[in-house]
Formats: sequence, C-alpha cells, structure tokens
Amino acid sequence: MIQHRIECVDIGSEYCPCHLAETNDCLICSHLQGKEFCDCNWRGVCVYQEYVWNGNKSKNLRSETVCKIEEKIEYKSNLTILKIKTSRTLSRQLKEPGAYVFLRDVKLPHYYDVPMSVMDADDMNGYIYIAYQTIGAKTKMLKKLNNEVLVRGPFWNGLIGIKYIKSTRNKNCLILARGIAQAPTLAVIRKLDRNGCNLKVILDKGKIGEIFLSKYLKDLEIDYTEIDLMKNEGKLLINNILAKETYELVYIGGSDLLQKHILSLLEKNNCNSNLVITNNEKFCCGEGICGSCTTFTENGELIKTCKSQMDVKKTVERRNMLG
Ligand code: FES
Repeated sequence: MIQHRIECVDIGSEYCPCHLAETNDCLICSHLQGKEFCDCNWRGVCVYQEYVWNGNKSKNLRSETVCKIEEKIEYKSNLTILKIKTSRTLSRQLKEPGAYVFLRDVKLPHYYDVPMSVMDADDMNGYIYIAYQTIGAKTKMLKKLNNEVLVRGPFWNGLIGIKYIKSTRNKNCLILARGIAQAPTLAVIRKLDRNGCNLKVILDKGKIGEIFLSKYLKDLEIDYTEIDLMKNEGKLLINNILAKETYELVYIGGSDLLQKHILSLLEKNNCNSNLVITNNEKFCCGEGICGSCTTFTENGELIKTCKSQMDVKKTVERRNMLG
C-alpha cells in the first residue's frame, strides 16, 4: 500500500521541534523517529538540526496567559461571542486560517480546557474574538466567565487543507459554512479576499440560528446567500452553482455529515477543486500527547489530527468508515 506523507502544521514554527522529538515520535523527521537514515520531505530548516542546536531538547510549550474578557455578547441560541485582550504577538499569531486556542476558567483544572477557533484577531490592538456554542460541561463553565479567562495557544490545525488557502490567488472560490462553523470561516474569507479571489459565500444558520458573520461580511463588502445546506433547497442551489462555474477551492465549514453531503455533490458534478474543511476531531492537549484526537489511515498508520495536515477526501471517507 502507498504510504501517505503526513504534514505537521507546527513544522518550522517556534514550537518545533516539540516534545514528540524527545520520545522519538516526531511526525516528520526520521532521525527523531529513532531511525538511522534521513527521509523527510520537508524543505524548510532541518528539524533534527534545530533539535541538536537546542541542546538535544524540544522547544518551549505554548504558554498559558490570564486574559481580560473585554466584551461578552450573548445571543438567544446558546451562542456567545467573546472579545479577549491578548498580547499583540499572540493576536498576530492567531490571524491565520485554522488558528485556535484553549480556554478555561483559571480556577478550574486543565481538563476543562476547551479548544475554540479564533473567529477574528486584531493584532494592532491585541484582541481576539471567539464565537462559541454552549453544549457540554466545558462550554457551560466557560459561559460563567465574565472578567478573565485562561488562554493557551497559539495552535493552527483547526482546518484541513490549509496550504490551499495560502496558495490560492485570483481564483473563484466557493465558501460554505453552517452554524457555529461560521467562526473559523471568517479568517478563510479574509485571507482569500486579500489574495484577490472571487468568493461565492453560502451561509446556513444551522442550530445556532444566527448568521453572525453578516456584519463582518458587510464591512468586507462581500455578499452571501443564506440557505439551509442540509435541506433539498441547499442541495439544489449547490448543484446549480457547480453546474455554472468552476471553483479552484471549495471550503466546507460544518459537521462531518455536512462535509460528507457536500463532498458527494462535488463528486456528482465532477468537481476537482482543492478542498478545505474544518477539523472536527476532538482535541484535548493540542500538543500531540494525550491521544484524544488520534485516528488511523487506511494503512493502519496512526495520525495525531491536532498536528497533522491530511488529504481531505480521505479524512471524510475514513470518518464515514468509522461511522
Ligand atoms: S489533542 Fe492531544 S494528541 Fe491531539
């Protein structure tokens, strides 16, 4: 069977090599997997060399910072938007599509850490904006906070297919997002818009019952269509759009079910676009250690999805296989 190369989202960053290098579990470097030979496809600074120069140890872990909640907007539908004061450096690091942080009450133990996509980041003034839906124990505890919150980050693997967002310029792109997955979508729209792309944006309120991106899109002067993507009307609209136009990139922000549903429409329309999806795996540590996000390739190879960039189609197919 073909061995698929995995890309580590942290490679070359100030957090690389990470502590996985110390246990011979680096995702990329064969030396730091305990092998005798060099066999990576990374073209940046050598991870092994960085490890040796750093005194044969990993670089620092992400820091935890107590940050002030500057503003909290609560909507009827379990949706909350937080404006959090951070350092300008952290907000700059969190401007990228796929960026996320862990949040929790400073008084609670670390297992209350909840991963949250960064909807928007203002690096001039040092703010991040987080939109979240209250569902379980972690988000219910988060909702009680009004003054300060513990922020751990930056992390970047909130999307799969990030390289296509960075490399797509002056092309037609189709952006689909439903419910709370509108939050990571704003950074995608901003980046592609800056790259001169022509965007067709379709948004669905989903269970959240709000198109909370509307004011941001108005500021960006980007139009959007609102429709229920899980109903027949949504399916018809997507079919019509795909029949009329070719898209270099298609982004799907939403549940596994929505992604599967849209992917089958793309296949039906023989659409060969580059795909980007939200990473819907469950993250606990974000550092490749705890194993909560682990899944397997068809070869039985273990993947830590909090750090790995994978093939989008295979990711969705594998989820379907696992049920
Ligand atoms: S979230 Fe802990 S290993 Fe990925």
